Formats: sequence, C-alpha cells, structure tokens
Amino acid sequence: MRQIAIMGFGTIGSGAFDVVNTNREIIKKNLGEELQVKYVLDIREFPGQPVEKVLVHDVDTIMNDPEVDVVVETMGGLEPAFTFVKKALEAGKSVVTSNKELVAKKGVELMAVAKAKNVNFFFGASVGGGIPIIRPLLRSLSADDIDQVSGILNGTTNYILTKMDREGTSFEAALKEAQDNGFAERKPEADVEGYDACRKIAILSSIVEGKFVDFEDIYTEGITKITSEDFEYARQLGWAIKLLASSWKEQGHRYAMVSPVLVKPENPLYAVNDVFNAILVHGNMVDNVMFYGRGAGSHATASAVMADVVEAVKHLGENIYAGWSEEKRELSDISMSEKQFLIRVKGDVSRQSELATKFGAGQLIDADVAGEIGYLTPVLSEKAFEAAAAKTEGILQRIRVQA
Ligand code: HSE
Repeated sequence: MRQIAIMGFGTIGSGAFDVVNTNREIIKKNLGEELQVKYVLDIREFPGQPVEKVLVHDVDTIMNDPEVDVVVETMGGLEPAFTFVKKALEAGKSVVTSNKELVAKKGVELMAVAKAKNVNFFFGASVGGGIPIIRPLLRSLSADDIDQVSGILNGTTNYILTKMDREGTSFEAALKEAQDNGFAERKPEADVEGYDACRKIAILSSIVEGKFVDFEDIYTEGITKITSEDFEYARQLGWAIKLLASSWKEQGHRYAMVSPVLVKPENPLYAVNDVFNAILVHGNMVDNVMFYGRGAGSHATASAVMADVVEAVKHLGENIYAGWSEEKRELSDISMSEKQFLIRVKGDVSRQSELATKFGAGQLIDADVAGEIGYLTPVLSEKAFEAAAAKTEGILQRIRVQA
C-alpha cells in the first residue's frame, strides 16, 4: 500500500480524489500495489463529504509523515504552492502538479531540488489537461528533432470561440458558461488574454529544446478583440478562428507566439472545437503527430495527475529526466517571422489598388459587412506587415493566417 497526499481540494484535487476511489482496482493492477489518499490539505471544511475523514489544515502534517511518498499539488497559483512543493521535495517526497504557472516560472528550481533529493517532479497535467503530451514528447518522440509544436492549449477560449462562431453568442455569455463548467481560471484574463496558453507553450518549448524557455519572452495576444464581424470573414473564407500557441524552429532560430489565427480546413486543428485541446507536433522523422482530448475539467485533468502519481511511485528512489536544463534558450524576435494576414478596413472595393500597393498583391474579401472590406495579404514578415499597416487608414482588425 502506497500513501499519497493531495494539496488543494478544488476542481482538479477533488477529481484526483475521485479517480483514486473510482479506479482503485485499475490503479492497483497497473501499479502492482494499492494507492491510498492519506491526507487532503485545504483551508475549507467539507462537512459530510467522504474527504472529511482525511482532511487536514496544516501542511506540516503531510511533510512530517514518512509514510507519504507522493504529494499532489492542485492548488494553482504561485504561492503558497511553490513553498509547499519545495518543502515536499526537500522532505524527500516526489511531487506531481497540474500547475502550469508554477512549472513555467519555478520549474527549473524545483527540478533541481528533485534531482538533489533523488525524487521526482512531474507535471503531465500542466499542459493539455487529460491529453498525454508531456511524456510522449520526453519519451516517445525522443529520437526526433521537433521543429514545430502548435496547439489549441486553452479550453476556455476554444469554448468561447466555438460558441461565438456557431451560435453567435456574445463573448461575455460564452465566458460565463465556461466558468460555470469549471474550465476557466480563477481570473478570466489568464484565459482570454492568452497568458495560460503562453505558459503552456513555454513548457512545451522548454521540453523540445531541453533548455529553459521563459514564458515572459513569448509574444502573447488573447481573444478579447475578436468580434462577430471577424467570424463573418472566417465563414466567407471557410476558415476557423482559433487561439493558437505555437513554437517553431527556422534556420536555427526558435520562435514562439500565442495569438488568434485563421485556420484552414486542411489543418487538423481546424476541427478542434468546444473545450477540447489539440497539439500538432512535427518531427523531422515522424512527420506530423496530433494529440487530442479534453484540455480542462476535473476528471480529465485528474486522470493525467494520477497517471503521474503511478509513474512517481514506480520510480521511488530514482530521479528520472522529465524536464529541461537550467540553461536559457533565447527566443528570436517574431518581427522576422513570416505570415499571411487578413485585415478588415473601412471602405469598399475601391481600396483594392491602394491595399495592393501597400501590402503587396493580395485578395479582397467581401463578407457583406456594411462599411468595410477585407483584404488577404500575401505572405509578409511581421515587420513588413506592421510598416504597411502603420501607413494604412481605417484598419479595423488584423488576424494572422496559419500556413
Ligand atoms: N483554464 C484552463 C483552460 C484550464 O481553460 O484550458 C486548464 O489548464
């Protein structure tokens, strides 16, 4: 019998508690022994609920108990999660977390403590919810040079964009529904401004590079400026609007960015809707590999958490490589990267020759929206696009197009 503790009984922590109880026999079969939740740490009381029997309020009860081999951190946020996780690792316990903020910001330090203490720090649930992506990148694709990772990494924004597209729902109403379903972050800006996706693509970039990619260096744009008119143009083109988090290598440079983009039907990410996430990985040998599943939600994310717990128990007394080195991988400035853009401008078809002169030969897109016209530019560097846009009157919107 192995004992674990869960810190934080919110959406994911309570899901992990359910997974242990519901799948007790399956876990026992896969692990070779039984797993038991000895403690759940939370500041709240849960009267009459099964968790009440194992609920504790003092983190030291967990830290000082030598029977606890693995600690699960599902509190979210940086503090006190960081202090508690570090303390657990220093106490010789392996830690499993779903906390992308913690991994993106403090991962290097926590991996070093885990290594020094010969325990493990696993974070498979921090990207893509229940989708196995971290371990496949570390293990199954370890013989490939991964030159591109692009994904829909935030369930809340994908849910909002899907609702706005299909039902014409307002941004606010769709966000409220996502929050009610338990997908959204505590602060909605983390989802809708792209910060959550930014941390996740920083984690994936660090893994494929084997070096630390700082999320603060990643160009990030959210979906708050996407409007119903934008969807009129997307429909006219037969394309979808997605919040994509991408990381790619070009002539030795590493680029990363989060932004809304127009995705064409031939791209497998086009069909990823609602709360679902997907990650498209390109390796120089394997070609494209797509990972798809529930990127948020209690039981889906808890499934990934508990799989990490099983892995941690199987590797007790042995630190295994599961992250990146402390060396920093500098990102190149995206201004030199190249994309096609859709712009919406005030006016009508009479602007075609002016737009062609400024942006290069492109295509007018008339989506029947009063008082404006769309223009699809040729492929341009971000820098060239910005220079042309600065000289153009009446730009209402600009959205990148995924190649
Ligand atoms: N708020 C996140 C999302 C939760 O919507 O994807 C999972 O990380």
